[in-house]
Amino acid sequence: MTTFQNLLTKLENRILTITVNRPDKLNALNKQTVQEIGKVIQQAKDDAEVKSIIITGAGTKSFVSGADINELVNLSIEQGKEMAQSGQDIFKTIEDCPKPVIAAVNGYALGGGCELAMACHLRVASSNAVFGQPEVKLGLISSYGGTQRLIQYVGKTKAVELHLTGDLISADEALRLGLVNYVTTQEQLIPKCLEILEKIKSKSPKAVGGVITAMNAFFISGVDGFKTEVNEFGKCFSSEDFKEGTSAFLEKRKPNFSGK
Ligand code: COA
Repeated sequence: MTTFQNLLTKLENRILTITVNRPDKLNALNKQTVQEIGKVIQQAKDDAEVKSIIITGAGTKSFVSGADINELVNLSIEQGKEMAQSGQDIFKTIEDCPKPVIAAVNGYALGGGCELAMACHLRVASSNAVFGQPEVKLGLISSYGGTQRLIQYVGKTKAVELHLTGDLISADEALRLGLVNYVTTQEQLIPKCLEILEKIKSKSPKAVGGVITAMNAFFISGVDGFKTEVNEFGKCFSSEDFKEGTSAFLEKRKPNFSGK
């Protein structure tokens, strides 16, 4: 896998861990980092050795503290729109990745950091994690899908409040609101992610990809999610995974899925 300037990558047990690595800036997302995230996700998607992905931040204080504010100060309207579009496209590749992606949120997940976590399929937070969309405090709004995805996770009532006030919330509050799947200690954060991914790893990769496609469709305007489910269900019948899964059940053995 490519060496990146602002990301660390580790492939172990077919699980790729991507660490945003700008700890002196609390892992703020500059343009280079966002582009590198796009590149590594594309590579992971195409790499048969990678079964699933964890995204986390370097150090114990911050997951990602948001877009790099230094790079925002002189942007024009057009450059601002370009930045938002490119970031949204890249985060969409995470959301659409057919391999499961978990955010291991190990501290601040603010602005673009909260948006990055929300683009992942699952979120596990350490108890020191802090979530929020504080862009209004800078005279901004979120730009990597935050106004759209937060509503999906916590409902409009709370999402509007968080975006309008810029209030930050604790990991426990994020759990209560349904923004994260689990809260753990710092030490248990990656082990908990691995535990979840191990469970998914024994399932059919084809079916896992189908679930992701069908569930994402619910939120795409103009796309009929029920129809997408019909299509994804139909596709299962041409897969080797389906034959293996049903044969294994009938033969009373564990399935061994090829992902084909
Ligand atoms: N962009 C650029 N630099 C950032 C950053 C960001 N989003 N978040 C943190 N940093 C930098 C700080 O400028 C500081 O750099 P310096 O040491 O060169 O001065 C370093 O990271 C440490 O941050 P600091 O503010 O000193 O840490 P803290 O513990 O006092 O506060 C936060 C932590 C996360 C509360 C605070 O850094 C913050 O509010 N960051 C901005 C969050 C935000 O608004 N995100 C949305 C951006 S659109």
